[in-house]
Amino acid sequence: MQNFQNKVAVVTGAASGIGKAMAERFAAEGMRLALADIEPEPLSQFADELRRAGTQVIFERVDVSKPADLERLAARTYQEFGAAELLCNNAGILPPGAPVWKEPLSNWRWTLDVNFFGVLHGVQAFLPRMLEANSEAHIVNTASLAGLTTRPLMSAYNVSKHAVVALSECLYAELQLTTDKIHVSVLCPAFSKTRLADSGRNRPEGVPADPAASFGFYEALKRIVEEGTPPEQIADAVVEAVRKNQFWILTHPQLDQGIRDRFESMLTRTNPPMRDLRATQTPLV
Ligand SMILES: NC(=O)c1ccc[n+]([C@@H]2O[C@H](COP(=O)([O-])OP(=O)(O)OC[C@H]3O[C@@H](n4cnc5c(N)ncnc54)[C@H](O)[C@@H]3O)[C@@H](O)[C@H]2O)c1
Repeated sequence: MQNFQNKVAVVTGAASGIGKAMAERFAAEGMRLALADIEPEPLSQFADELRRAGTQVIFERVDVSKPADLERLAARTYQEFGAAELLCNNAGILPPGAPVWKEPLSNWRWTLDVNFFGVLHGVQAFLPRMLEANSEAHIVNTASLAGLTTRPLMSAYNVSKHAVVALSECLYAELQLTTDKIHVSVLCPAFSKTRLADSGRNRPEGVPADPAASFGFYEALKRIVEEGTPPEQIADAVVEAVRKNQFWILTHPQLDQGIRDRFESMLTRTNPPMRDLRATQTPLV
């Protein structure tokens, strides 16, 4: 997509962090916006700010784990704007994790419901409408570097983000066989200074708080996120990738070695590498 002016962008997880930065960047490109988030107050405040600056915005309180919420967002977007040309399935969470064998099932389900099913629900609500419109469109799914590598104590997050990468690759191939008008990218950032390490603020009832607090990993994660890349830089990379129709959006080339090491270990049939984990290394029992 070369020209963004007056086109319609849909962003989930738009009230904070990377989603908010993408929405701001799209507004600066002259796009109209359909914004969604589970947190209605910051979302509505953000929409007001954008409107005051002259952007056309609609917004919906959406829980991406619920397919009906995405369906409602899609119906409203097409009703009010008549199109959706850029869809960013971005909402995501990184709750504190325990070792695989101790991670409560409710935490696994919450993480997969938001991070993986949230993306799938967005694709299933919008893509049939995009195909029907038969005009140029682009889908950006937010995964993570954690969708290309793995680390201890982040298993549910790793699994959910690997699933987003695989889904996006499948979608890419299927769209190639279907249309030359609709494109897809997968966004794989490493650490960015957002509220991700405070994902517990949206914890649903029945999901226990902080199962891994005693391992010190989440404290280390908070520090790394705090020192991370400004989300505005990630948003710039997204706009550039959509312009170039680039599938992989890898925003932290300084960490490419981790990806190389993982594939090298597969192809040389050697065991997975253990990297610098920057976390308290206590026995996980
Ligand atoms: N910040 C990082 O270091 C980093 C790195 C790699 C990938 N990511 C990914 O970027 C995406 C955005 O996260 P962020 O870092 O901006 O964090 P953030 O917490 O600042 O923003 C996430 C937004 O998603 C919303 N959200 C949470 N659950 C939701 C739900 N069920 N339905 C709708 N909205 C929901 C939150 O309210 C919040 O506004 C996530 O998918 C995350 O996994 C972030």
